[in-house]
Amino acid sequence: MRLADEEKSILDGNQGEAARIALSVLVDLGELFGAVELIEVSQVHIDATLYMVDAGLEFAEKMADLGGEVAVPTSLNPSSIDLQRWKQYRVPPDVLSKHKRMAAAYLKMRATPTWTCAPYQNGIIPRFGEQIAWGESNAIAFANSIIGARTNRYADLMDICAAIIGKVPKFGLHLTENRKAGMLIQIKDITAQMFENEAIYPLLGYLFGEIAGDQIAAIRGIPQSVKIDSLKGFCAAAASSGAVGLVHMVGITPEAQTLEMCLHGSKPENIYDITPKLIEQAEDRLWAVKSDAVDLVVAGCPHYSPAEFIQLVQLIKGKKVHSSVVFWVFTNRSVYAWIKDNGILEDLTDAGIMVFTDGCSLQYPKETWHFTAAMTDSAKFANYCFSQSGLDAAYASIKDCVETAVRGKICRKESPWRKK
Ligand code: F3S
Repeated sequence: MRLADEEKSILDGNQGEAARIALSVLVDLGELFGAVELIEVSQVHIDATLYMVDAGLEFAEKMADLGGEVAVPTSLNPSSIDLQRWKQYRVPPDVLSKHKRMAAAYLKMRATPTWTCAPYQNGIIPRFGEQIAWGESNAIAFANSIIGARTNRYADLMDICAAIIGKVPKFGLHLTENRKAGMLIQIKDITAQMFENEAIYPLLGYLFGEIAGDQIAAIRGIPQSVKIDSLKGFCAAAASSGAVGLVHMVGITPEAQTLEMCLHGSKPENIYDITPKLIEQAEDRLWAVKSDAVDLVVAGCPHYSPAEFIQLVQLIKGKKVHSSVVFWVFTNRSVYAWIKDNGILEDLTDAGIMVFTDGCSLQYPKETWHFTAAMTDSAKFANYCFSQSGLDAAYASIKDCVETAVRGKICRKESPWRKK
C-alpha cells in the first residue's frame, strides 16, 4: 500500500505502540483486499464490545494500556449485559467483572458509551456519502442503505484499530464502483394489506439476505410509506441471513432513487421475485418452537426506538404479562431516560415488562435464566437464537408477542400473506 509520511511514522512507532499495532493491522487488511491507500473516516462504531471470550477483552485492555485513544468520535455497540441493572438481569459476579473491565478499557480509550446497536437512533447519524467505519451488521446495513453513508462490514477488533487511527483501507463499499447492484429482487403480488402488517419487513429482509448473500442487490417494491423502524428490522434481518452490507431499496436508498441509479446504468445480472409464498416459507423457517409454551418474550433487537415503545405501551394497556412469562425489551440509555420521564416505563413495568439498556438480548446470562422457548418481534433474534443460546425461538408481530406474553401460551394471528 502507498502510505503517507505520517502513516509511515506511525508504523515506526513514533505515535506509540497502540497506534503502531492498529495501523499495522489496517495495512494488512488493506493489502489483503488490494487497497492502494488509506482514507479518513469521520466516525467509528465498535462492535467488539460484547464480552464473549477473553481475547476480545485482552485486546481492548492491551490497546488501552498501551495508550490507545480514539482519533475520531467512536460509539459503542452493546455490552452483553445491562451495565446498570445487572442485578435485575441476574448477571453472575464473575461475568459482571469482565464486562466492567471491558467498559473501562473503552472509556479509557475515550470512546462514547452509547452501548447500543442502533447508534443511528441515538444521535450518531452520518450524512449521505460520508466515509465511516462501523461494526455491527444491522448498523452497517442501515448506514449504507438508509442513510447512504459508506462503510464496509468491519469485523470486531478491526473497528478498534480504525478508531485509533481514524482511517481505513480504501476498498469495498467505500468506493462508488463497488456499490453497484448486480442483482435485482422484485416484490411480487404483495398487496397493500400485507404491507400494513409491519411484521412483513423483517421477513422481506430475511429473504433478501438469503437471496443476495454477499452480493450487492437492489430491491424494488418497498412502499414509500415504510416506517424507519421497519427499515431497521429489514436491515437487521438481511444482515443476519446474508453477508449484506448494502441494500439498494429503489426509491428509498439515497443513491438508488431509480433502478438505473443503483445499477449504474447496466442491466441486472440476475432477477429474483419475492412472493407471498416465499414470505410464508421464511416465516415458517423462523418458527422453531415445538409447542405453544413460551417462557420468554423479547423485543429490542436492534434496540427499541421511542415509536416502538409507544406502540408497545398501547398494546399492553390494561393487560399484564402472565406469571409464567418473562418479557424483556432492550433499548439505549437516551430512550430509557425519555420513557422514564414520560411515564411509559412505569406503565410497562406495572404490566410486568422489564426494560433494559446497554445489553444484547441474545447474550443473556444462561446460568441464571432457564428458558425453554422464546418469542420475538425480531427476525434477527429468531434467526440467531438457537445457534447462540440453544433456545428455540419464534418470530411474530409485536401484537402476537404481547398476546402471547399476556396469555402465557402462543397466540398467532394468521398473517395476510399466508394461503387461506
Ligand atoms: Fe443488538 Fe444484540 Fe440484536 S447487538 S441487533 S440486540 S443481536
